[in-house]
Amino acid sequence: MPFVECVKGTAVESLLEQARCVLVLRGDGVVLLDETGASKWSGGMADLRLHRLKVGIPQPDHVLLAGEVRAGDEVLDCTLGRGHDALVLEHVAARVVGLEKSLPLYAWTSEGLKRRGSRIECVNADAREHLRALPPRSFDCVFFDPMFSKRAQAEEGFSAVRRHAEAAPVDDALLALARRVARRWVVMKAAPQATDLRRLGLDVLPFKRHSELRFGRIAGATRAP
Ligand SMILES: C[S@@+](CC[C@H](N)C(=O)[O-])C[C@H]1O[C@@H](n2cnc3c(N)ncnc32)[C@H](O)[C@@H]1O
Repeated sequence: MPFVECVKGTAVESLLEQARCVLVLRGDGVVLLDETGASKWSGGMADLRLHRLKVGIPQPDHVLLAGEVRAGDEVLDCTLGRGHDALVLEHVAARVVGLEKSLPLYAWTSEGLKRRGSRIECVNADAREHLRALPPRSFDCVFFDPMFSKRAQAEEGFSAVRRHAEAAPVDDALLALARRVARRWVVMKAAPQATDLRRLGLDVLPFKRHSELRFGRIAGATRAP
């Protein structure tokens, strides 16, 4: 990505004449600018979830629970987005790799995470290609949080994700690639109807508190007996 020095007196918006998106590295944060508007990266709900975990509020985090994520785990988040789930995974796991296919979202999130001092290894890649190149059983858990049409995400910043995200759903072939790489579970978030999860053969987890989301999982294909 070309780097452009800030010139006093020149509006950063003028760069949109040459580019679809501009990543603005401001003193107070990392901003993704496009013709629709500007969105500052933030930890959002991840900060609340991390606070709950740190102070020991007895409310399980469903991402951790679904993957049975424990200390020492290596996890692969195939749908990094804003990195919120990855931040929660990082709290427990030894290593988190996050894949993001969209270059604007990858740049926005990886820079936001870096400024926060996160250890998450962000990669600008299509999960399908990346999984294909990984050795079997290379991660304990593989996560997917794909886009779905009726996503009830009014949180600030999600509209930027919606504008730039890869929208293709997870299909059988992609799930098979993920199962090859997972030592324990492949976990997927879905809309409340959970039709995607059942269509792919995942078990829908009986979590009660999340009315807006469902979680499904399926064992890694090469799971040890
Ligand atoms: C719903 S968002 C994920 C939100 C994320 N779990 C979080 O906590 O911020 C889905 C993200 O996955 C990305 N994505 C979808 N399919 C992908 C693929 N095949 N490879 C890599 N990234 C993908 C989209 O571009 C989008 O940013």
